Amino acid sequence: MRLANPNIPEDVRAVAADGTQLRYKLMELSNQYPDAIALGRGDPDLATPQPIIEAAKAALRDGKAGLTPVAGLPELREAVAAKLRAENGLAAERDNIIITTGGQEGLYLIMQALLDPGDEVLVPDPRYTSYDEAIASAGGSMILVPTTHEDAFNLQPDAVEAAITPKTKALLMISPSNPTGGIITEDRARALAEIAIRRNLIVISDEIYEKFLYDGWKHFSIGSLPGMAERTITLNGFSKSYAMTGFRVGYIAGPIDVIRAMSRVKAVTTGPAASLSQWAALAAQTGDQSPIVEFHRIYDERRRLMMTGLREIGLDYSDPRGAFFLWTNSSPTGIHATELSYLLLKEGRVLIFPGNAFGENWGGYLRISVLQSGDLLREALERMKPIIDRYRVESQV
Ligand SMILES: Cc1ncc(COP(=O)(O)O)c(C=O)c1O
Repeated sequence: MRLANPNIPEDVRAVAADGTQLRYKLMELSNQYPDAIALGRGDPDLATPQPIIEAAKAALRDGKAGLTPVAGLPELREAVAAKLRAENGLAAERDNIIITTGGQEGLYLIMQALLDPGDEVLVPDPRYTSYDEAIASAGGSMILVPTTHEDAFNLQPDAVEAAITPKTKALLMISPSNPTGGIITEDRARALAEIAIRRNLIVISDEIYEKFLYDGWKHFSIGSLPGMAERTITLNGFSKSYAMTGFRVGYIAGPIDVIRAMSRVKAVTTGPAASLSQWAALAAQTGDQSPIVEFHRIYDERRRLMMTGLREIGLDYSDPRGAFFLWTNSSPTGIHATELSYLLLKEGRVLIFPGNAFGENWGGYLRISVLQSGDLLREALERMKPIIDRYRVESQV
């Protein structure tokens, strides 16, 4: 990829190889521009439903702000287990659940509890790079499993099998995916479960975007398959489904011994999740679920708007079957995605993360999130168009 503008700042260039740092650096830069439209974010922009907020207020008013047990409020663990049984087909009871301070902490606890130094974890590429840090923090190694645009970034069982070594402890899978919006279809999940059982792997299943699948695609939990309960660790949370990111509540379901190991780590690090947030999460889990239906409708509408807009600009994207993202092929610009993101921010006042913030192989992609109103998405497309046109390779020939 050529450099269109060699003046990309040194502090951006310096972190270009570290996905998480690069995202934070671009967010910091965008704060300089009050008129910037943030299509980088992954946290819902929609308001938390009012009954959930009322539940947090009531908990505070009623003196329920004290510490809960480390593994979480018993009522919430119970409600989460009931949800996982009813909606996901998991054989979960209260003791199979730990409530975490967001899914983010959950990732860290999983790796601390599971990995010994030198253990390998298979991770689809591209990926949410917090996985890298969580795995590294436990002394593990990440082994990337390629996924492709042509296959809508579904996970290929053959590619997983080919990546297994004697050191492989676990397969991490995510569906729907951040950053690609791809899903792991049920047939693939069945084939992956067969491999996990035959090769004695643990499966870590990140299902945090499970409520947002489109075009008739259905979420499927691998832990529901025969022989998988004892080897599956399911990660989920309230941030995405209920627009509760700032409440910081997530959860993990898994075998009791693994949950106990995580509780021991949690006891000496963060302790229990914030009690007010847990009461709010209980209201979310047990209350009216119709806000999720409305969120889904809004995201789907925006996603269609963005798909149409990108086609008009002449950019191709991977089939977005779930989550909030359009994984967009930016290679027609001929510019590396770090630089393109920088130009889109500086000249267009649109914050979009470069694909290489989700893996070093993805400097020809952008991750565009649809977590802004339709009007702002339209405005962002208008601002992007002249910049994309200016650098489009064909137009310069
Ligand atoms: C794939 C994935 N997993 C887990 C998380 C953690 O989310 P939270 O800590 O808000 O629950 C995120 C957040 O963006 C995510 O994208």
